[in-house]
Amino acid sequence: METEILIIDKNAVDEEKIARAGRILQNGGLVAFPTETVYGLGGNALLPDASRKIYAAKGRPSDNPLIVHIADMEHLRPIVTEVPQSAIRLAEVYWPGPLTMIFNKTDLVPYETSGGLDTVAVRMPSHPVAAALIRAAGGYVAAPSANLSGRPSTTNAEHVIRDLSGRIDMIIDSGESDIGLESTIVDFTEDVPVILRPGYINLAMLSEVLGEVKIDPGILDAAAEKGIRPKAPGMRYRHYAPKAGLKIVEGERGQVISRIQELADAAAREGKRTGIMASDETAGYYRADVVKDLGSVSRDEDIAHRLFDALRQFDDEDVDVIYSEAFDTPRMGQAIMNRLLKAAGHEVIYV
Ligand code: TXA
Ligand code: MG
Repeated sequence: METEILIIDKNAVDEEKIARAGRILQNGGLVAFPTETVYGLGGNALLPDASRKIYAAKGRPSDNPLIVHIADMEHLRPIVTEVPQSAIRLAEVYWPGPLTMIFNKTDLVPYETSGGLDTVAVRMPSHPVAAALIRAAGGYVAAPSANLSGRPSTTNAEHVIRDLSGRIDMIIDSGESDIGLESTIVDFTEDVPVILRPGYINLAMLSEVLGEVKIDPGILDAAAEKGIRPKAPGMRYRHYAPKAGLKIVEGERGQVISRIQELADAAAREGKRTGIMASDETAGYYRADVVKDLGSVSRDEDIAHRLFDALRQFDDEDVDVIYSEAFDTPRMGQAIMNRLLKAAGHEVIYV
């Protein structure tokens, strides 16, 4: 299949191009498109065949449900059986935006889209190209992150082209994603809202609106060791993984620096190509084949923004081992560490 690449300026959305992409979705085809979190691989959420095609293009297990993207509040009611008041309050504050909410689904949502579940994940993205495309497609676009299953999510069109060119009808290129990590997922099907995936909208922001909020025990650091399974099926797979083995070193800054350098030196003596992920504050202390500075820990949005791109670049640079500092920052630390721990298969060295 030939994949058409369409450049659309997010500050001056070309309606004719959007209409063309919308027609592809209406007819059951697949279009990768930008959102403020990561790029999405879109298909018509109400067509079982479109969802099947999404799983096939990504190589994703079909029991891993897709998020249904909407652009207008009136499109929520037809796909969910009820919306609790607390969810409406949260939507008023954070929709459109990097927030996904889970509700019980109606029959309008095919089981192919919900991965066989009776619930459905819904998000209203704020990216102008995403919103325009969803409207042009008829209101409901199922979209997982636009990466091959198991690879880091895509934060620009080059990443998407690498993973999905030849497998889908169209890729819309609108430059870099703003946030760079996937949306926060909150489950409203239990008595108390539960965070299933941490993201830009963090626990403090959610608590301020919702009061009591729980965190799915399956996504906490120790869960993997204790065998607790996350509720979001997609959070169970090893994911975001670079080809090289990745290990995280956590502890007091000075000790982390010396341990990472020791480990990198030892690997280099064995003839391995070494990579290190560090911050502005520490990058200058390291010697390795590739040192990536993700940004200052005082601006952890930058670290979040660069994380997936850095993991992909290590693949391009053919490193054999990667050592990363832990980024336990207050604002986005939980979201960053959730992705980093998955990329590392939960291998952490405490110093
Ligand atoms: O930011 C995002 O959310 C991006 C952009 C494209 O919107 N999308 C995204 O989709 O990250 P995906 O498919 O890569 O991740 C969706 C996650 C998976 O872990 C999936 O298992 C979970 O959401 N999920 C979807 N529906 C669910 C449901 N009904 N119950 C529990 N988990 C669900
Ligand atoms: Mg994904």
